[in-house]
Amino acid sequence: MSAKLIDGKAIAAAVRARVKENIAEFTGRTGVRPGLTVVLVGEDPASQVYVRNKGKAADEAGFLSRQIDLPAETNERVLLDLVARLNADDTVHGILVQLPLPGQIDEAKVIEAIDPRKDVDGLHPMNAGCLFTGRTAFIPCTPYGILRMLDHEKVELKGKHAVMVGRSNLVGKPAAMLLLSRHATVTICHSRTVDLPYVVRSGDVVVAAVGRAEMIRGSWIKPGAVVIDVGMNRNAEGKLCGDVAFDEAKEVAGLITPVPGGVGPMTIAMLLQNTYEAASRRAAVR
Ligand code: GUN
Repeated sequence: MSAKLIDGKAIAAAVRARVKENIAEFTGRTGVRPGLTVVLVGEDPASQVYVRNKGKAADEAGFLSRQIDLPAETNERVLLDLVARLNADDTVHGILVQLPLPGQIDEAKVIEAIDPRKDVDGLHPMNAGCLFTGRTAFIPCTPYGILRMLDHEKVELKGKHAVMVGRSNLVGKPAAMLLLSRHATVTICHSRTVDLPYVVRSGDVVVAAVGRAEMIRGSWIKPGAVVIDVGMNRNAEGKLCGDVAFDEAKEVAGLITPVPGGVGPMTIAMLLQNTYEAASRRAAVR
């Protein structure tokens, strides 16, 4: 048996096309071009690629897109001052500070400094708390993208066992909350879980976000399960791969995301969606 692939690129393209239409309508009606500012501190090559792709996608959809690069040795005060200026800038509707930040900067402090209404990453404790309590919030882009993919594929979550492998604030915890909001029975596990293969094998839906190349083997997957791979790693041969051993898992799963071309493009699409929402909420309170 071979699983059906979930085409993240195609689903993301549809989301982006919709956002582009919404932006054109919004700008035509209000005269305002929604603005997204992405801040990159340091020169991590992977982050540089991610940030460049976010900027390109934002430009293409009609946003006023800006990238601010700061040197790796930037101190926390400088970054906090920049965030304060962006909070006060009416042309900026969405602020994204690319993570990880260099060691001398307290990430939590920077995230908390972002105006929650401009926090299109959904990482501010206010937005995280809203997601936790089931109120309207900015949903972190990767979990939001995962949910959109599952909806696109009409995956029934109600009553199903969803196994979230990974517990980060960026992916694991918010994704688990979203799955729970759809009435899945959710297990959050991680690299230190005892007998992880046993837990994963009980999942009707498995979401992998542990950051370890091909850790989740095909033999761990329940036949017919839906497998969502958030990983973006290089394997021993230097090839881009996910957290799931794709060639093995595709023989067992019912539906599976490839890497690349799965979750990655969805993250960017949902960032644009969140930034559009930030701009339209602001316009609504004027
Ligand atoms: N680093 C990797 N993914 C992300 C993301 O979605 N947002 C931010 N801010 N940093 C990241």
